[in-house]
Amino acid sequence: MRVLGIETSCDETGIAIYDSEKGLIGHTIYSQIELHREYGGVVPELASRDHVHKALPLIEEALLQAKLRKSDINAVAYTAGPGLMGALLAGASIGRSLAWALNVPATEVHHMEGHLLAPLLEDDSIQFPFLSLLVSGGHTQLILAKALGDYEILGESLDDAIGEAFDKTAKMLELPYPGGPEISQLALKGNPKAYKFPRPMTDRPGLDFSYSGLKTFAINTFNKSDKSQQAKADIALAFQTAAVDTLFIKCKRAIIQTEAKQLVVAGGVSANNYLREKLSLLEQKLSVTVHYPGKEFCTDNGAMIAFAGWLRLQHKTTQSLSFTARPRWPLSDLKKVKN
Ligand code: KG4
Ligand code: ZN
Repeated sequence: MRVLGIETSCDETGIAIYDSEKGLIGHTIYSQIELHREYGGVVPELASRDHVHKALPLIEEALLQAKLRKSDINAVAYTAGPGLMGALLAGASIGRSLAWALNVPATEVHHMEGHLLAPLLEDDSIQFPFLSLLVSGGHTQLILAKALGDYEILGESLDDAIGEAFDKTAKMLELPYPGGPEISQLALKGNPKAYKFPRPMTDRPGLDFSYSGLKTFAINTFNKSDKSQQAKADIALAFQTAAVDTLFIKCKRAIIQTEAKQLVVAGGVSANNYLREKLSLLEQKLSVTVHYPGKEFCTDNGAMIAFAGWLRLQHKTTQSLSFTARPRWPLSDLKKVKN
């Protein structure tokens, strides 16, 4: 089966073709970062319009890469939420119309389920049940993934998501959008002895997170500093260390609590090098293996949607012709997919 995946939930138009025999055979992505950069964040209306412009040429390009014609596609998977309403509607209407025209089934995919399953694209050692840490621009969640569609949220951020805190701290340090990779680069020049930031919510039980206080702490520290390049690098390093160490502490707690043997980390922030270095310590301290998507599949992409769609389509989880987009859609609302 060859599944065309369409991702348009935010500022990346991601298109991919997943072949159940050969794996990923076509993969194209267009990032709108340059379009939004001058505004310091994503402008929803510009995002939707750009998805409409880019989706069809990218589908043609993915088909060319895969040496296929449209009629060789057996199913379509598209992101139905969560995300920006207009952006989601662009992908959903293109995906649904294409499926109708080709007379093939279509399935909606939850964007965070796409992220959560992305590491399985290239690593077949991962088996349900596993513990998942989802760290993106909109989510910070610890999840017990029991089966396809059966996700128990063990803990999540009560305010800002970790990626959002990276982006807002970067903006304050006058770094371009998106801030996560910028902070991680600048932190390489920081002095680890300069500042020590708090590790929010680690002194109380539970698996929830809070990142808005850490962001404010960074802003206050910057305002009191001499605002030099070195001060910015020191703050970037102190922020990144505190943000990631908090994840480490909560992951350790969750592994002990659930006795999980595999920790699967995904979402844009899972591309962070310090995060990967720090979480690898869990493999040494506890009997657990830690898994990540390839770097290109950490941030938004069509491959994770095509792959999650394929897993779902095997269980005939298709929907009728009418479609909806769901800007807010808790992952725990999904139902276990029956065999
Ligand atoms: O998963 P994603 O592409 O989109 C959402 O679903 O939100 O994640 C985007 C987020 C942004 O906040 C971005 O700053 C962050 O991931 N990010 C990083 C890194 N690369 C992307 N954060 C820290 N370090 C990175 N290397
Ligand atoms: Zn995402």
